[in-house]
Formats: sequence, structure tokens, C-alpha cells
Amino acid sequence: MSLIVKRGDVPKTPHTEFYGRKNILSLEEIHGTYGFSGAFSRKMHLCRYPTIQVEKPKLLPLSLSSPVLQNAPLSPYHILTGKIPYHGVFERSRHSLLKGTSAVISVSKPEQTGKDDEFFRNAEMHECLFVQEGNGVLASEYGELKFKEKQYIVIPKGTTYQFRLLSPRAFFLIIESLYPIRFAPHYLNSEGQATLMSPVVETEITLPEFQEPRDVLGKFSILSKHNGGRVTQIVLGHHPFDLVGWEGALYPFVFDSADHHSIAREIHTAPPVRQTFQAGNAPHSGFSICTFRAQIEGWNPKDVPAPYAHYNVDSDEMMFFSNTTYGARTGIVEPGSITFHPAGLPHSPHGDAAKKSFKARGKLSDYLAVMLDTFFESLSPTQEAQKFCDPQYPLSWAKAEKGTVPI
Ligand SMILES: [Fe+2]
Repeated sequence: MSLIVKRGDVPKTPHTEFYGRKNILSLEEIHGTYGFSGAFSRKMHLCRYPTIQVEKPKLLPLSLSSPVLQNAPLSPYHILTGKIPYHGVFERSRHSLLKGTSAVISVSKPEQTGKDDEFFRNAEMHECLFVQEGNGVLASEYGELKFKEKQYIVIPKGTTYQFRLLSPRAFFLIIESLYPIRFAPHYLNSEGQATLMSPVVETEITLPEFQEPRDVLGKFSILSKHNGGRVTQIVLGHHPFDLVGWEGALYPFVFDSADHHSIAREIHTAPPVRQTFQAGNAPHSGFSICTFRAQIEGWNPKDVPAPYAHYNVDSDEMMFFSNTTYGARTGIVEPGSITFHPAGLPHSPHGDAAKKSFKARGKLSDYLAVMLDTFFESLSPTQEAQKFCDPQYPLSWAKAEKGTVPI
């Protein structure tokens, strides 16, 4: 992230002799991206390296990924994630629904907190979670980060963490990214500040509250996700949350969807103005994440607030509906619905949604949805997605034309 943060005790000059605690030599680790050229953080361990495994790594009979559908036709999809059952702990339960080379979209609906001595590490992808339901604490080596409904949690690849639920259950949309997830660079100035025209303010993130290092020996299991969803158990002989301090630009943080400051104009505005995050080198690779939240609809006396049909030929589009007040697909989507519109097909509102939207001119909308648009990358639905799909969705526009679908 653009904010450089310092917590706890770190040496003034990097890579120099440093005693974070009296007479105990601290040991340095760099958690970095893009080789040694991207965002990184310097972590100062109390006295032990993070490499001290006390058991051989073990591939677990656990997969966090579902195979993609083979020989599926080109089609729009409607995945009813509200029907996915709540079960298990976050670290061991995720349903992957759409998969590409740099993006994977999953859902996790845990109803328990995991064991104290078990941790998770996504060793292959960065993560951006949207909290549809629940609240709790993300504990990591960087500290403790509280979260609640309608917030994003961004977690860099390689972070060691645990989810501690404070609600009986939770519902997360999980967006995984090969590339770091950050605010869109075109909304930042050369110093890394969000410009005064940006829909985000870079200081409106919540940072982990630093915790004292845990100087505890024992067996601590880290479930490490790698190689497309395989899970290997790494066992350390000491507690992984053992930092006396850290500094840098790579850390987990929370961003509230309500802090996406919508930009409106006199006529309908295309989705890029709703962009909150970006991964990769847009518009050439990676993806954008947009937040559709309350905003003033176009106030031109003839504005059509409903979107136009769009055929965005370089982007596959995933839309997660946190609520159902988005008028373009009213009567079709449910809370938690994911619509998936691949680049090869145009998509649009249905029935007389455009005409109905006239009454929204100049008024404040109250929808909440998260959209992911890829750049030159195809996503494929998985076998898991198929279990929760509405098979009639491709016909939903035709049904609306015949008046058989409430709109
Ligand atoms: Fe769209």
C-alpha cells in the first residue's frame, strides 16, 4: 500500500545489529513482492527465524479449489452463494467458483473459529475479502485487525494468519490475486497519496493493532495453500506471531465499503469511476475491483440511470450482490448472488428496467455490490459453482420480455 507503516521496535538502519528486547538479538525477515523491487515489509523476529520447521512438510488430503467445468458452453451464469451451507472454519473451507490465471473467486461461510495453534497462509495468491456477514478479528504476525460486515480485508500473499469469529457465523467473498491488491494507481499521485479527485482516501484504512511478541515453544501448524489449492502443513517449533516490530508497505488492512466515496455526474457513469482496488498492470493484465454503493444518479432531465447493455470484450465480469436494490437485475438476483458475464457475450438490464429507472434520476441509490473485471483474462466456472447455479439464468432476459419474471 502507499502508506508506509512502522509498528513496535525496529532498527533505525536496516540490517544492522538490533536488540528488540534486552540482550536478545532480533532477527530480520523481508516479506516482499516483485522480487526485491515491489512493496515489502521488514519484520523483526524476537529471536528465532521463521524457517525452523520441526516436522517434515505434509501434503494434506484437503483441497481449497474445485476443478473447472470442461466443455461448458459460452454462457452467463448466476451462482446463488446464499444457498452454500455454513460450515467449518475459514482456514479449511472455501468454495472456489470462478478461476482464471491471475484471479480466483471463492466463498467461505465458516461457523467456527479454528484451533489456537493452527494458522493459514496463502502461499500462492494475495487475498481481498468482502465481509457479507459477521464480524471478528484477523490475527496475523502484523497484529490484530478487527472487521465487520460490508468491509474489505486485504491480506498480502504469504501472511500467516488466523480468523477469530466474534459472530456465530460469517460469510466472506474471497478474491484471490496473483498480483498485489492495492488502490488503483491512476487515483494516486507520484507520492502515493490519493488525488483529490479520487473515490478513495489512502489514510482511511484500518491497520493491525500491534501485539507483543509471543515467546512460546511448541508445535504450531501453518496450513499453506499452494499449487492451485493444495494444502501443505508446515509445523514450526515456536509461535509465528513473534515480531518485536515491523515497518513497510506490505501488511493486511481493512477498508470499509462505506468509505468508497462515490463520484457522480449528470449522466450515467461507467464502472471505472467506482474502482476501489486494482491488481496487476491494468488495463493490460490483472483486474479491477469496483464498489457499487450509494451515489446520486444522473440528474440530467433525460438521464437513464439503468446501465446500457455492455459488451466489454476484454473483460470477464463478476458481480457480487450484497443487497438486491440494483435495479438492472431486480427480481433475478438475491443477496449473495454472483452473476458472471464472460467477455464473449453482451449483457444488460432486463425488461423495462431502463424505463423504470427514470424515477431514480437525481436521487440517492442504496445498492451495494462488488464487481471484478478482468483484463485480457478468462474466468472459468468450477464444478462447485455449477452446484449452486440457476440453470435458467441465460433465459432470464427473454422471460422478462414475456412478463413472466417480476421486474
Ligand atoms: Fe456489467
